[in-house]
Amino acid sequence: MLNEKITAALNDQIELEANSSATYLAMASWCDKEGLGGCAQFFYAQSDEEREHMLKIVHYMNEMDGHAIIPAQKLPQSEYDSIQEVFKMVYAQERHVTQSIHSLLNLSQEANDHATILFLQWYVAEQREEEALMREILDKMKLIGTGGQSLYYIDKELDKINKNRLAAEAAADPSAPVA
Ligand code: FEO
Repeated sequence: MLNEKITAALNDQIELEANSSATYLAMASWCDKEGLGGCAQFFYAQSDEEREHMLKIVHYMNEMDGHAIIPAQKLPQSEYDSIQEVFKMVYAQERHVTQSIHSLLNLSQEANDHATILFLQWYVAEQREEEALMREILDKMKLIGTGGQSLYYIDKELDKINKNRLAAEAAADPSAPVA
């Protein structure tokens, strides 16, 4: 059984994950329009992942005899100044999500809610990985700079990350599509 505070915080987290999913889908669409195919593919996959993060909470809450509330979707930003701006926004968003997961964990610890503490461990690890990946991408962008062919090289880097991700998924699940 989830207490009222944790129910409200988990529902807020559902909203945060749903908004991340919509934001990353908008970013994917913008990248597609700009001819950045590697970046677009990265964000389409990222958007799907965020939806999965949201769904995990929905299922968890309902399994715990709670009630997951599906939020209205906020209209995401559809235009961006540059791909560098996009990834800076993503990094800020992921840091915000991490803070939110940590607050939820604190709340669960205060309530001695062991089931929710255990459930949130997956998100703690996931956020650590997501933040590290975004930092890695931002570092690469800094190295590439903003010269003539920088967009080409940035997109190539993202393509490499997409391929690595697909290969890792295929290794974890042999029925997953391979790059
Ligand atoms: Fe589900 Fe990337 O936060």
